[in-house]
Amino acid sequence: MRKKIIAGNWKMNKLPNEAIDFFEELAPLVKNAQNEVVICVPYTDLFYSLMHVQGTDIKIGAQNMHYEEKGAYTGEVSGEMLKAIGVEYVIIGHSERRAYYAETDETVNKKLKKALELELKPIVCVGESLEQRESGKAKEIVTTQTKIALQGLNNNEVSKTIIAYEPIWAIGTGKTATKEDANETIKWIRGKIEEIYGKDTADSVIIQYGGSVKSSNAKELFEMSDIDGGLVGGASLKADEFSKIINYNQ
Ligand code: PGA
Repeated sequence: MRKKIIAGNWKMNKLPNEAIDFFEELAPLVKNAQNEVVICVPYTDLFYSLMHVQGTDIKIGAQNMHYEEKGAYTGEVSGEMLKAIGVEYVIIGHSERRAYYAETDETVNKKLKKALELELKPIVCVGESLEQRESGKAKEIVTTQTKIALQGLNNNEVSKTIIAYEPIWAIGTGKTATKEDANETIKWIRGKIEEIYGKDTADSVIIQYGGSVKSSNAKELFEMSDIDGGLVGGASLKADEFSKIINYNQ
């Protein structure tokens, strides 16, 4: 049985004091959560967030990392730096980073390898644009993104990789993929992983859905056979709303 991971992605939101208020409100609401709870916060909130989730089951993640350990990369943060302060998860290759900061499938692959080497838990984002979907290329796109991301990994590493299927047209738009569509694409991704790494590995990979997940649609999405939780943007900014998504099955 794969566990469900509900991860928030705050993007470029919340000052440290707002992060602290959020965790104080969220912690009691998710005390008995049956699902893994992760919040991926801006770099400047990481340390404060880690301090404030101590003694709770809430895990903290970053939203990006560099694949080199150190060096002349002004403005970047390495996986080693995240690991050193106790960060557990890291989002890799979010579509906003692919679109605005020239992330490619190749840099995603390098970052993923580095994250796994450091035993950070990577959440790798894949997903098609509206144009790609309308021209019937959605499956081809997610297949390429997934295959290149996983290139050179062994079975054990693949099974430790979390994938988030996030159709770009559903991110921040209020348009959610139907549960059937999301499940079908996630099954497709799992099938492609099976072709290369075998059934046992494919069955063990956690694949989330992301794109306008909210408390009103979380249950129907997360109850589908292949959807192992979600990556949640806008709806993760309010503790009350996010707690309802986390506790969708209670
Ligand atoms: P959204 O964002 O939930 O606001 O659509 C999801 C994401 O970008 O990870």
